Amino acid sequence: MGSHAAPQYVPSETRLFKPLKVGNVTLEHRIAMAPLTRLRSDDNHVPLPLMEKYYADRGCVPGTLVISEATAIAHEEEGQRSNPGFVSEAQTEAWRKIISAVHANKSFFFQQIWGMGRASDPKHLAERGFPYRSSSNVPMKGIDVEPTALTEEEILQIIQSFVDTAKRVVAAGGDGVEIHSAHGYLLDQFLTAGVNKRTDKWGGSIENRARLTLAVLKATSEAIGAEKVAVRFSPYAGFQGSEKSDSVELYSYIISEIKKMGLKLAYISLVEATGDPGAIVRGDKAINVGKTLDFILEAWENRSPVMVAGAYTPESAAKAVEEHYKHWDVIVAFGRHFISNPDLVFRVKNGIPLAPYNRATFYLLKQWEGYNDYPFSPEFLAAHPEAVHPMTE
Ligand code: PHB
Repeated sequence: MGSHAAPQYVPSETRLFKPLKVGNVTLEHRIAMAPLTRLRSDDNHVPLPLMEKYYADRGCVPGTLVISEATAIAHEEEGQRSNPGFVSEAQTEAWRKIISAVHANKSFFFQQIWGMGRASDPKHLAERGFPYRSSSNVPMKGIDVEPTALTEEEILQIIQSFVDTAKRVVAAGGDGVEIHSAHGYLLDQFLTAGVNKRTDKWGGSIENRARLTLAVLKATSEAIGAEKVAVRFSPYAGFQGSEKSDSVELYSYIISEIKKMGLKLAYISLVEATGDPGAIVRGDKAINVGKTLDFILEAWENRSPVMVAGAYTPESAAKAVEEHYKHWDVIVAFGRHFISNPDLVFRVKNGIPLAPYNRATFYLLKQWEGYNDYPFSPEFLAAHPEAVHPMTE
């Protein structure tokens, strides 16, 4: 295709801008803000006030689904400096303010919640008196410490921590939770055969490896309602040892069990092969390129929306919802572009070019820089001065 070829789709005229019901809320369009690690919490893993502006601004177009960065379900899972938790009163109050700021812009908020397991920094855990744990004792590449395998009692505690956190999120006003079961973090450390070497009912067969994720989905759904629970999987990722040779069998089984339990989840979030943080963040070799998520969408039968992520542009997202995913209600998540474009949805809708992001400032601990200093477009400011969160530096 020559460089002068006209774009095939005008995004604002595609299904991207068709409203969609997700759980109890109705989105005005199908562009979501992806969960993104940003490390702007304090030393007690409490969100800093600057996060209110960041999230509120990204929900500046009413009816946008904003998903939080991954947030710990227990202090033991706060495995990295300045990553947030949703456990203490101070953490809960900080998130309550963030959630109200997003709601004030008439957008919606799902909290992504996780355990980090062996993807934690063992030194950070040790400093706080916590053990370094995983499904079994298989070390993480590049980390010189062997994790201990969770005991059965600790596994049950993990399930309870997901439930308790989901309840705190809803009590703080959140529209739902997204259970993180992807990318080599704790739940995925149970799913992946190369990481989970357990010989009890939590390891070995697909049925056993899937048991914890399914138990978490069931228990949180019973606690807050399945329509407020979502889940994220990365069937094709290699990040942090998450590569799987049995993805089709594993995720087909998981979907069939979710259906059997009758859980009409808010949405299922799936990372495409092109979204592997191993390749994107760490510069690893891209794997599984070309493999599609279709077997999961086919199995799920549109019971609720599916979110896809993986280096989409406005044009490729428009094409995806019109072509590849035309039979399904698909939401497209944007990550990096949302970092540098607080008014991303407005820009896509109005054909305004996106501002480039600066990877070097993605993870500047606690800093305003690289976080709240990406401006709105002049067009957005002219149209909606009232939508902008008032905080200035
Ligand atoms: C990261 O912090 O790099 C990260 C966190 C969660 C993901 C992927 C990457 O799902």
